[in-house]
Amino acid sequence: MTKKRVLVTGASRGIGRAVMRRLADDGYRVTGLARKAPEDLRADEEFHCIDLADLEATRALVTELAAEQPFYGLINNAAMSPVTSLDECSIQDMNDAAQLNLHAPLVLTQVLVPGMRAAREGRIVNLSSRAALGKVNRTAYSASKAGIIGMSRTFALELAEHNITVNVIAPGPISTELFRTASPPDHPRTKALMAAVPLKRVGSPEEIAHTVAFLLEERGGFMTGQTLYVDGGLTISAVHL
Ligand SMILES: NC(=O)c1ccc[n+]([C@@H]2O[C@H](COP(=O)([O-])OP(=O)(O)OC[C@H]3O[C@@H](n4cnc5c(N)ncnc54)[C@H](OP(=O)(O)O)[C@@H]3O)[C@@H](O)[C@H]2O)c1
Repeated sequence: MTKKRVLVTGASRGIGRAVMRRLADDGYRVTGLARKAPEDLRADEEFHCIDLADLEATRALVTELAAEQPFYGLINNAAMSPVTSLDECSIQDMNDAAQLNLHAPLVLTQVLVPGMRAAREGRIVNLSSRAALGKVNRTAYSASKAGIIGMSRTFALELAEHNITVNVIAPGPISTELFRTASPPDHPRTKALMAAVPLKRVGSPEEIAHTVAFLLEERGGFMTGQTLYVDGGLTISAVHL
């Protein structure tokens, strides 16, 4: 039987790497994208190097891949996170974050949706962040991560009649390079953040991969337009203070 195919962006490390591995283990044909290939790529994982901020190159590559076998799933995971105060946030920071965190997911969705419509099934999962609700020194990042929630809800409405679901996962602190760089463990703000997580730990990339796997499963098909906060309870912790 032909395996269902899934595209995962930002699959070279962190959450995207764990998602790619989990979906390959679950029996999907998984294709990963990032600028660099992971060193531990397995024989059952496909990978293409691309700068997703180059929208035309991305469109061309993914159009070619979809022509070979259409995709059942799209996981828009790759993102960048400028860390600047409000005073320092530049228009370039805003544009850079929008280009990778919003425009690339739009282009990928536009390229893959025709194949999903033809198959009358599809699953799109977009990665947001609990920073969408507000986070100090993340103006550009939080704007893009709030934007992807609105965009996903709109996609969900437009695509529901084609049996294509669109959902968002908004992680809290997850142990990856992005988190360790943006929130160094010894920084007082990181310590305060960790103290505020009700489960008192960071999450693992595999725990986000598990949520992706749940949304991709056939039995996950009645949920669309939703945002799942996978954050150790961080977004509800303020009510206990
Ligand atoms: N970790 C957290 O605590 C956390 C919290 C909330 C939300 N999230 C979200 O979860 C997602 C994954 O985060 P992560 O922590 O796993 O990030 P990460 O460790 O920084 O990994 C980012 C991935 O995106 C790829 N990437 C970055 N820029 C790219 C570009 N221009 N073109 C192609 N690929 C690019 C990177 O690969 P290359 O460098 O090889 O291109 C890498 O594979 C993001 O959407 C992030 O906003 C993470």
